[in-house]
Amino acid sequence: MAREQQPSRPKKQRASDRVSERPERGYAIVALDSPTDPVNVGHTLRAAMCFDTRLVVIANADPALDLRRLPSDPGRAWRHTPVLRVGSVFESLPFDCTPVAVELTDDAEDLVEFQHPERACYIFGPENGSLSDETLKRCDRVVKVPVSLPLNLAATVNVVLYDRMLKVRRPGIKPGDNNPRNDPGTAPERDGA
Ligand SMILES: C[S@@+](CC[C@H](N)C(=O)[O-])C[C@H]1O[C@@H](n2cnc3c(N)ncnc32)[C@H](O)[C@@H]1O
Repeated sequence: MAREQQPSRPKKQRASDRVSERPERGYAIVALDSPTDPVNVGHTLRAAMCFDTRLVVIANADPALDLRRLPSDPGRAWRHTPVLRVGSVFESLPFDCTPVAVELTDDAEDLVEFQHPERACYIFGPENGSLSDETLKRCDRVVKVPVSLPLNLAATVNVVLYDRMLKVRRPGIKPGDNNPRNDPGTAPERDGA
């Protein structure tokens, strides 16, 4: 008797055929260089968790800084986002990751126009100073939030991570797109304005 023909097994999907479901290519790391205020560190950890940052680096901080008890991080983000404590930011830079200094200098790139590197480590300076010249020189890019006075440290972290998220989600976005001034429903009626 002829053997009953077995239905052929569905082919296994090869790993290389699958399309990644990750919304973003690459990753973002946040590094705080010599932070002094635990409130800013807590807000930074919280921002890192909210924006899916892969790693937070705390460099050259007071050893007494207790990450477990940060009043501005009630969700204890360090349980979900890895945090490294190091002596120097550059000790923890992963392979082929672009160091981006975030600093309000005259020749920094403007965040509004900035194209974020696929793998970026954003380095922020201390509350009572700025990133050193040596750190700025070692970074491939320097970017600023174009405002006339320095922002609070943790506020800057949130702005930069939000800008990255926005540009990942809306890759075609150009300055001027979605400008509230162009919205006929809300633009003030002014001749020539
Ligand atoms: C509060 S600021 C330091 C204060 C500042 N050096 C001053 O003159 O008062 C701390 C850090 O936040 C970041 N920062 C603040 N405002 C910024 C801006 N507008 N653009 C880029 N980075 C900024 C920088 O990394 C800076 O080193």
